[in-house]
Amino acid sequence: MCGIVGYIGPRDATPIIYNGLKRLEYRGYDSAGIAVLQNENIEVRREAGKLSMLGGLLETSPISGNIGIGHTRWATHGAPSARNAHPHLGQTGRVVVVQNGIVENYLEIKDELTSEGVDFKSDTDTETIVHLVEHYLASGLDLVEAARKTFKYIRGANVVVLMSADEPDKIIAARIGNAGGVVVGYGDGEMFAASDVPAILEHTRKVTFLESHQMAVLTREGVRFETIDGSRIRPEIQTVAWDPIAAEKGEYRHFMQKEIQEQVRALTDTLAGRVDFEAGRIRLPDLNLTPELAKRITKIYITACGTAAYAGMVGKFLIEKIARIPVEVEIGSEFRYRDPIIDANTVVLAISQSGETADTLAAMEEGRRKGAIVWSIVNAIGSQAMRIADGTIAMQTGPEIGVASTKAFTAPLIDQYMLAILLADMRGTIDEKTRRELVSDLRLVPDLAGRTLAREADVEKVAHAFKDIRSCLYLGRGINMPIAYEGALKLKEISYIHAEGYPAGEMKHGPIALIDREMPVLCIAPKDPWHEKMISQIQQAKARDGIVIAVATDGDELVASMADHVLWVPKMPWLLSPVITVLPLQQLAYHIATLRGLDVDQPRNLAKSVTVE
Ligand code: AGP
Repeated sequence: MCGIVGYIGPRDATPIIYNGLKRLEYRGYDSAGIAVLQNENIEVRREAGKLSMLGGLLETSPISGNIGIGHTRWATHGAPSARNAHPHLGQTGRVVVVQNGIVENYLEIKDELTSEGVDFKSDTDTETIVHLVEHYLASGLDLVEAARKTFKYIRGANVVVLMSADEPDKIIAARIGNAGGVVVGYGDGEMFAASDVPAILEHTRKVTFLESHQMAVLTREGVRFETIDGSRIRPEIQTVAWDPIAAEKGEYRHFMQKEIQEQVRALTDTLAGRVDFEAGRIRLPDLNLTPELAKRITKIYITACGTAAYAGMVGKFLIEKIARIPVEVEIGSEFRYRDPIIDANTVVLAISQSGETADTLAAMEEGRRKGAIVWSIVNAIGSQAMRIADGTIAMQTGPEIGVASTKAFTAPLIDQYMLAILLADMRGTIDEKTRRELVSDLRLVPDLAGRTLAREADVEKVAHAFKDIRSCLYLGRGINMPIAYEGALKLKEISYIHAEGYPAGEMKHGPIALIDREMPVLCIAPKDPWHEKMISQIQQAKARDGIVIAVATDGDELVASMADHVLWVPKMPWLLSPVITVLPLQQLAYHIATLRGLDVDQPRNLAKSVTVE
């Protein structure tokens, strides 16, 4: 999870930025760098690895100045290395940029700029930003206008912070889409920009959070806020709570709300270092997977608990569809008691946010005992499920504090999608065109998530209508059937309302008797291969006087004409649709629970990690 810190003021920027990045270290990264304006020139120091590596470089080759920007990076495009680390200088050496997110159209921008003679030094999408700014500066625009044109031209969810040696009185920060936060901090004769509050907390408690499609021009005297389109705005100045926990929540009331919104950045980060968009290939180095091993796998058991198990149910669909390997999903607490059929060509894949869930660890041990290849998809670095596995995929979402799992549900969906592509690629069961298309679709995910999450106010309205219900049915089909289970669990565990996820096709075999005006039905009905089936399901519910909330794809007038409420999601590749269809369900559960005045982050009777049987 990338970290950004910028400073402009009377003090030396280097230690302020370096220490600010250290406070963002918990979020994980694989390279770091700082740029400061020194004697009217931009000096950059970058190093792969941990911040201490950069610290060592700064000792042997110090830089200091009163304006600077710094960055810790999860590699999304290009391997983690000094040459790919941020900040990135343009060709003139007069402009420097740091970025969080994915520039979806970077390949076409790179082609255009290369044809104009720009010589790219890195494999990153970030470098297209600094060259674009220089391109517009060369056309006669000043830094603010050159930056604005750049922000309007790049596509995708991104955070960008930049500065120029030729206009040394300002730093420009922008948030385009929902690729994580930008917080502006107000000092006395100095200003700060950062990707999260902890980075600047020791200097100021007065902050402003940028919204999507907003930019800020920071000077020593203060800050000017505008929309990317150029309208002047005056967002409020907030005073951040003094305690670090409250400060951690930043602009949010609960960790769960913050983590729901953080999914754009978490989904970007779980792609980090694993997707080669140009080659259309996936790399999962920590899985220790070889083509020989991939070819001999005959069966995969996915084992997990709760939300993680529902992520595994989506993974089953993805791996069977893309890699054509038989997959069974086994609840952790049941797996070791059913004497599973396992041999040396069987994989037991555990999914666990905490990596310490007793039932899941026991299932891994059962697989180990019977000679299986044991893998894990884990969020908590250094946890048991990560340590005891033969190979692992880190979710890379950063700490998940809310007991109700959100970003640690969507990240493993992407991780399993990538795993399926890698397995198919190594087994030679996928043609290059299909593989490239599947990989390319990953580029869309952060922005699709950001656009969906931005509709929270619409979801909150529906929450008001349903906050007093006593029970609810969640129905889904095909790849979105597990989303019915997950949506119901979210509502159950934080609002204490009974909810049941069900395969939609099963309703006619009994549960449909439940439907009446007191039993609302939530139908997950995006434009996927089961859309027509879900239309029929909605009709059946309405025919029984049921109240229907539908998750539907933008523009689906048929669903809109039938359902009582619609939670809209953008058009998306259906294999990736669960990552998106779950988002309004997370928000719905969150708002119903908060309207009921409940402790969303610490629901009664629940623990964040169930380390007992
Ligand atoms: C999810 O919202 C719940 N808190 C719970 O079901 C959780 O997913 C389950 O306990 C597994 O936890 P883990 O991912 O840490 O193994």
